[in-house]
Amino acid sequence: MMRVAILISGGGSNMVRLIEDMQGDHPARPVLVLSNDPGAGGLAKAAALGVPAKAVDHRPFGRDRAAFEAALSVPLAEASPDLICLAGFMRILTPGFVARWDGGRMLNIHPSLLPLYPGLDTHARAIAAGDTEAGCTVHEVTADLDSGPILGQARVPVKPGDTAATLASRVLEAEHRLYPAVLRRVASGNRSLLQF
Ligand code: GAR
Repeated sequence: MMRVAILISGGGSNMVRLIEDMQGDHPARPVLVLSNDPGAGGLAKAAALGVPAKAVDHRPFGRDRAAFEAALSVPLAEASPDLICLAGFMRILTPGFVARWDGGRMLNIHPSLLPLYPGLDTHARAIAAGDTEAGCTVHEVTADLDSGPILGQARVPVKPGDTAATLASRVLEAEHRLYPAVLRRVASGNRSLLQF
């Protein structure tokens, strides 16, 4: 059984979908939800689903990302996951931390059709560019932000009159279908590209 830790920063709707899917014949189980924000709404949701939920506040560490990551590594080591899923985790991880989870053992979901729009404000950028299509991407995390090997992409239309908020909610629905589907495949040893 593959052990999965999920890292979040906020409401954790993707995290909830991943946990809900990891039941029955699913080849993975959630062992930890970890947030950099003790106020993250997702922590209570994880606990209510019976998954240990912890926070390591990044703020006392200031700019010392490596010290924050060392603190983050303590509960991670205790939970001993095989795979980390970043799900709305909004801290940039150092190459050193990423290297400890190399070989595709850390996944991320990003709200754009990578390689388009890495970083922030993806939906506003897609609208400003006049794109007729948007979506989300699940990829392996590498040292370069939002640019690791792509495992899955889901597309949605950009509709006339869309704002960043209306597009974000349409993309988020696609995220909720894509991330569990990709995790199920990865946990089964299938890393071929999933597209819908
Ligand atoms: C999701 O849209 C996810 O793709 C995005 O944050 C949101 C988290 O929502 N992630 C990033 O932008 C990472 N750079 P959730 O907390 O409800 O899952």
